[in-house]
Amino acid sequence: MNQNVINARVTFRNSPIHVLERFTFKDIKNALLEFRKFSESEECVILQTCNRIEIFATGKNCDIKKIQKTWASLSGLEESAFKENLEIEIDDEAYLHLLKLTSGLDSMVVGEEQILGQIKNSITTARINKASGERLNTLFDKAIRIGTRIRNTTGISKGGISVGSMAVKLAEENIDDLKSKQILVIGTGEVSTLVAKSLNRRGYGFSVTSRTLQRSQAFCETMGGQAVKFEEVLGGFEKYDVIFVATTAPYFLVTYERIAKALKDKKKGMMILDLSNPRTVDEKVATLGNIKLMNLDQIAEMVDKNMRKRQDKVKIVENIINEELQVIEASMKRLDAEPIVKDVFKNIDVLREKELQKALQMLGENDSEKIKIIEDLTKAVVESIVSAPMNNLRKASEQGNPEILDAASKLFNYKKKET
Ligand SMILES: NC(=O)c1ccc[n+]([C@@H]2O[C@H](COP(=O)([O-])OP(=O)(O)OC[C@H]3O[C@@H](n4cnc5c(N)ncnc54)[C@H](OP(=O)(O)O)[C@@H]3O)[C@@H](O)[C@H]2O)c1
Repeated sequence: MNQNVINARVTFRNSPIHVLERFTFKDIKNALLEFRKFSESEECVILQTCNRIEIFATGKNCDIKKIQKTWASLSGLEESAFKENLEIEIDDEAYLHLLKLTSGLDSMVVGEEQILGQIKNSITTARINKASGERLNTLFDKAIRIGTRIRNTTGISKGGISVGSMAVKLAEENIDDLKSKQILVIGTGEVSTLVAKSLNRRGYGFSVTSRTLQRSQAFCETMGGQAVKFEEVLGGFEKYDVIFVATTAPYFLVTYERIAKALKDKKKGMMILDLSNPRTVDEKVATLGNIKLMNLDQIAEMVDKNMRKRQDKVKIVENIINEELQVIEASMKRLDAEPIVKDVFKNIDVLREKELQKALQMLGENDSEKIKIIEDLTKAVVESIVSAPMNNLRKASEQGNPEILDAASKLFNYKKKET
């Protein structure tokens, strides 16, 4: 009767960015469908960000082997590729992991805000595509609520620490007198916004480019910076000393050839920070002399330092999570009782209605007020007899007494419907 919730994931913790990108799904909607079909998950949610690809699945016949097989076939990988990269968590451990995600504890930058929005999007996508159901919807809704509350009460997200600010710090640590340098931001999305905010806060001037000049101009109106034409930038990287790249382009924008050409016209070196995953800067550019290339992996190292400073807050968040975990565990166990409870109420109501109609016919009653009184009476009788045992059943389920659920199934002739 009990269904496991399985979390299978490949994240930045075990896999560097270039490895992580091999596990991504090109089409999330299709992946949801395939997981439901081939790994026999009754419910499935996919969380895919630049730092992680995670599956949450549940189903009577679903197991980790089937998930891995489906994942391998979707991403075109050998199953052996998962050996060193895949992490698996089941039930309580999976709930704990989701709470760490929503509260920001498992992020590369502890406490960062984006992950919460990304988790909300994942469950919305699963709902829209009818891939999630009562179990995962309940789990995600609760974890999102708890994560939001933890962030608000502990201040773990405060302090402006983001991938953007970490990247700017990294530039500061590696470049002397950054204020005198020409800084460029490629991209006008979420991450570029974080970079721009951080540059502004520290008083650095910068240029911004993206495929459409209008979008760059609109970006600069709110975020500061100088909008530059995309084509102008691609053909003239020599004008810049520090380049932040944060786009979702499926190919290299900063190519070896473009940078090699730029270096010919430029006497000084350049620093390029690729915040994209998949990467949009060809790693080969690092082989050119005078180029310092950094990507999300280096940011992760920096975050480790940041983590040590935040240990006090992390401890507080961990304590709250441990308390909240018990609430989630109880809610999830309670769900095991719901199908029986619903079934019993439904069957009894059918009987009640049948007997009511029989009695009304025998009485030959047409007065609607009297009919309503009799009907309410039947409902009240049913309610008062059935409610207490059903609530006790729910409690037994919360307390992890599956034998009481089995007994109730037998007593009420309940058979789990195949999905
Ligand atoms: N969000 C996060 O938490 C996070 C954290 C770390 C790293 N990242 C990585 O950072 C990158 C950007 O993420 P984001 O959240 O900022 O994405 P986003 O908000 O969706 O913005 C995407 C940006 O990429 C540009 N773009 C898309 N296709 C392009 C192409 N073919 N050529 C040039 N520009 C193109 C878009 O420009 P247009 O307006 O022209 O479409 C837009 O400016 C991604 O690779 C992501 O994995 C994200």
